[in-house]
Amino acid sequence: MALYTETVMDHFMNPRNVGSIENAEGVGEVGNAKCGDIMKLYLKIGDGVITDVRFETFGCGSAIASTSMATEMIKGKTIEEALAVTNKDVVDALGGLPAHKLHCSVLAEESIRAAIKDYYDRNGIEYDHSRFREAEDGESCPMV
Ligand code: FES
Repeated sequence: MALYTETVMDHFMNPRNVGSIENAEGVGEVGNAKCGDIMKLYLKIGDGVITDVRFETFGCGSAIASTSMATEMIKGKTIEEALAVTNKDVVDALGGLPAHKLHCSVLAEESIRAAIKDYYDRNGIEYDHSRFREAEDGESCPMV
């Protein structure tokens, strides 16, 4: 059996939503403590809906495929819907990742959460900090 699914290879070879957004409403930059790779995600948000999303990465193919898929999953969704997306959802949508690459998908989930937290912080929006605990206690190695 191939190590990577066709969906993973497609998102790796043709990643969706690569780039940055000028004047983004939320920017999340996280690092993977296991390998040192970095993910940066930009959000455009209007009326509580994610209208555009882009990402830049210094990361492996699995991180690129995971974040590409994640951007497709959250575009057009509400903030709450985006916050509900887990790395497991992303891995499932990719048709799976090898066990030793599962940690790469965490960058996708954490960068979404970090960008939404940044949006809340910039706009003085109250939120439940326990929902962003990983980003606040340094486990996800935020770079910003
Ligand atoms: Fe670093 Fe995949 S090896 S994110």
